[in-house]
Amino acid sequence: NEVLLNGQWLPAAQATVSVFDRGFMLGDGIYEVIPFYRRKLFAFEQHLQRLRQGLESVGIDYGTDQLRERTAEAIARSDYEDGAVYMQVTRGVAPRKHHFPADTEPTVLLYAYPFRFDGFEQKLAHVLLSEDFRWHRCNIKSISLMGNILANQAAHQADKTENVLHRQGWITEGSHTSVFFVKDNILYTHPNGPYILPGVTRDVVLSIADELGMAVREEAVAVADLRLVTEAFLTGTTVQVTAIGSFLSDDRRLVIGSGSAGPVTRRIQTAFAGRTK
Ligand code: PDD
Repeated sequence: NEVLLNGQWLPAAQATVSVFDRGFMLGDGIYEVIPFYRRKLFAFEQHLQRLRQGLESVGIDYGTDQLRERTAEAIARSDYEDGAVYMQVTRGVAPRKHHFPADTEPTVLLYAYPFRFDGFEQKLAHVLLSEDFRWHRCNIKSISLMGNILANQAAHQADKTENVLHRQGWITEGSHTSVFFVKDNILYTHPNGPYILPGVTRDVVLSIADELGMAVREEAVAVADLRLVTEAFLTGTTVQVTAIGSFLSDDRRLVIGSGSAGPVTRRIQTAFAGRTK
């Protein structure tokens, strides 16, 4: 179990950072999770670009070019067939202050871990629906995930696999996934912007929908319109394209369509599996 910390491969147990690292103390950093299928990276450039944009938007000065080689190295050094590469860049080590310290070196961590992706077509997510109480910069993939953690824990406690969130009645995304709906034979997903993470899987699904000639609207679906929704599914690096069977909201359960993956979801799942080959 090796990790790459600041350019050095180390056994995980020996990889340590300062207690004054701003990632540890303030959650001041940006991360990515990049999947690989049969040892082949999936949508790597899109993930790297999002990381670059995130770093830039919070003023962490770190050149990401070397991460291409390092990511490939992480997979080559592992014996995992399917998995993901986790990477995070924090602002570095400095006495605790809110504003940016001058002249700190970012702390960079990267490692591969095994993950089984196959079978997402057989999974069915029963999800909680609740108020999105996160900040208004959800497009930044910040390592400070308290809002997402609390949302996901609420789902876990309700025996659900994900918490799908809404802002004042408009559905945004899941605690660690993007969300799509089919309504009147049109595919809906929340537009990019400050209220959602621009999901890489979301983008892949939009391109698949385009290829399949589906009608698509990047518009939010209202909670009040959920009863008109015939299909719903989650997308993301850790769920691929997973059908939603039901929503639990205010102790009321709303079953979507037949309660299992519908025809649009099926077509997208098949095309998605094809792209990972
Ligand atoms: N989560 N929305 C949120 C809030 C997320 O955290 C994620 C990813 C997504 C899906 O993005 P992508 O398709 O690029 O994986 C949407 C990662 C995997 C995580 O935190 O583990």
